[in-house]
Amino acid sequence: MAWPASSTTGCSLTSNGNAVVSLPVQAWSGPFDPSLSRTATTALEAGRVVILPDLAFRTRVEEEKLLSPDLLNGRRKNISFDPATGRLGGSAAQADLLAAMLRRFAADAETLLRGLLTPYTAELRVGRTSFRPAEIAGRTYAPRQDDRRLHVDAFPSRPTGGDRILRLFTNLSPTGQPREWRIGGDFEPVAARFLPDLPSPSPSRARLYALLGLTKGISSPYDQIMLALHNRMKLDTEYQASAPVTAWAFPPGTTWMGFTDQVPHAALAGHMAAEQTFYLPVRAMQDPDRSPLRVLERLTERVLA
Ligand code: SIN
Ligand code: FE
Repeated sequence: MAWPASSTTGCSLTSNGNAVVSLPVQAWSGPFDPSLSRTATTALEAGRVVILPDLAFRTRVEEEKLLSPDLLNGRRKNISFDPATGRLGGSAAQADLLAAMLRRFAADAETLLRGLLTPYTAELRVGRTSFRPAEIAGRTYAPRQDDRRLHVDAFPSRPTGGDRILRLFTNLSPTGQPREWRIGGDFEPVAARFLPDLPSPSPSRARLYALLGLTKGISSPYDQIMLALHNRMKLDTEYQASAPVTAWAFPPGTTWMGFTDQVPHAALAGHMAAEQTFYLPVRAMQDPDRSPLRVLERLTERVLA
């Protein structure tokens, strides 16, 4: 794909310093100190992972059986839940119990984010919830599905039109396993590195995919670039081997979040996590110029969504 030669224009968005920022949050509901809110949104928009080491999602006694590998039989990687309808994606043993637990988790996650990330409160949209019981290490995955490879998130069937993907995770392991991540550097250099090799966005393909029901709505050029970037990052063995990363282990009983469309991440090991996805329009950010949409628009000198 032929992009303009100039890569960085305008302000510098680099220098993360640390990949993670830790906040002393002990409860899912506030009130939260306004300085926590500022620190959290600034860190998230800078592409850092915000960790809440003292915030656990407490399961109930009757839910302990959901955290057994025997019950889930190792067959399923993720089980999705739609908080809007209360429906689990696909069948699962103990479906009612699981749905109730995920509904509570989704509600806690929403309360936390609306309370803590006050600049986003009005604009945040709640997406899917997922339960991730299976041990990640030692499984076999198709390369593009392999989240052990560094990537930024882009959903093949759910284009965001430029909206941010903000995800919150909690580790529920009952046997002490941490969830092990690698966290990559800034988005802009990664985008600049891969952009010249990505296929050009195709409006006709986007319309066809929507017609065929492969995507929910028509993918914008932004969505097509992000999905191609996600795939190309995972498939590039040189990048995987040489990218600067911070290794981080999230112990059970801790919670963390990040703009996963921006921060390169890989999950290497762990089991029994829950995750909640949120969407945020770029205009709700404190600094929209840090969004992948604006970064890609600067790099390509095109309007992408
Ligand atoms: C991912 O978003 O790539 C996976 C993260 C995880 O399951 O810990
Ligand atoms: Fe991911």
